[in-house]
Amino acid sequence: MIFELNEDQKMIQKMARDFADREVAPVAAELDREHRFPREIVAKMGELGLMGVAIPEEWGGGGFDTVSYIAAMTEISRACASTGVIMSVNNSLYSDPVYKFGNDDQRERFLRPYASGKKLGCFCLSEPGTGSDAAAQSTVAVRDGDSYILNGVKNWITNGNEADAALVFAMTDKEKGNRGGISAFLVEKGTPGFTVGKVEDKLGIRGSSTTQLVFEDCRIPVANRLGEEGEGFKVAMTTLDGGRIGIAAQANGIARAAIEAAVRYADERKAFGQKVHQFQGIQWYIADMATRTDAAELLTYRAAYLKDKKVRHSKESGMAKLFASDNANWVATTALQIFGGYGYVTEYPAERYFRDARITQIYEGTNEIQRLVIANSVVKEIIG
Ligand code: CAA
Repeated sequence: MIFELNEDQKMIQKMARDFADREVAPVAAELDREHRFPREIVAKMGELGLMGVAIPEEWGGGGFDTVSYIAAMTEISRACASTGVIMSVNNSLYSDPVYKFGNDDQRERFLRPYASGKKLGCFCLSEPGTGSDAAAQSTVAVRDGDSYILNGVKNWITNGNEADAALVFAMTDKEKGNRGGISAFLVEKGTPGFTVGKVEDKLGIRGSSTTQLVFEDCRIPVANRLGEEGEGFKVAMTTLDGGRIGIAAQANGIARAAIEAAVRYADERKAFGQKVHQFQGIQWYIADMATRTDAAELLTYRAAYLKDKKVRHSKESGMAKLFASDNANWVATTALQIFGGYGYVTEYPAERYFRDARITQIYEGTNEIQRLVIANSVVKEIIG
């Protein structure tokens, strides 16, 4: 067992960290305050290969592996969690399934420009009336000759306002439901009947856009169906197995940033004649924050390693996301506590980490759903 990144992985980690420190961290507070989508940063990330890290170079990606992607995601999220989720959705939830389930024509049109960062993708599974129960889709796609007619509304779509194409899941056979009744479609912005609905005003990750997407009698060529008809639920679930590792990395990045900020503050701030970090109460916080975040990273890298080995990793992704997101919330709360009153105001970044961390327990499967996935696997392993 080797607990070390290889040379390529270290190289991309360093490149992402340098870029994040130089170009992302300095604007993170402004992106949050102004609710501004960082177009210029996303464009540069594309040039650096960060928008399709684990997609082969022949399809416009960086040509690295999932472990490299996770290392880079952590660094970008350490600087700005909003930029982190924009990157994560384009990498894990859009480019990865188009590469894995697409044919060469689809990869040419729907992957190359996206993995290279020239265009942006999004993933549309949840709806106003269904999130955790992903199979209870109301969106329908009805076959009409060489096309499908798509009708429905998708909710909580990261990159919804900015994306050039959407990976959309819809019911093609209600009777079959999650066992062959759902199909996946690639829908380009500008397709008649495809519009952006409500833009959400969020607690955190305010530099990323989250919207409804509306499909009204939207005609999609059969050539834009990703995978076979009825294969959509499998596409969605395997994609989320990968996506959850990305969100775990986002949570770890937030936790790292919160620890660093709290330790620096505890070094500047004095009370009762000594630096705050010289008090045992604060030392214990620092020790627990660092230990738990190391544990979260180990779980996250294990899941990424299994994905690279093409081993089913639903349980391990669920564990990584569950543990890392709970940890990021605890670390951000504790960091805020170390800052005292200064943690509660926008002068320091502690309150932003606290707000940004919260979503990691909710999206790409709530932590209650992660527990369900983990428990089902554990029971199957033991009982059969
Ligand atoms: N990989 C491969 N196949 C899988 C699978 C996986 N991870 N999970 C399920 N399947 C297969 C099952 O094997 C089964 O097929 P068979 O009968 O042939 O074996 C079939 O799919 C149905 O499985 P289940 O009965 O377990 O399905 P379910 O309807 O009970 O749902 C669930 C299971 C885990 C609860 C699932 O619905 C789920 O993950 N829900 C959460 C959805 C989610 O994460 N949403 C987030 C949306 S993205 C987002 O957050 C927005 C954003 O932009 C960031």
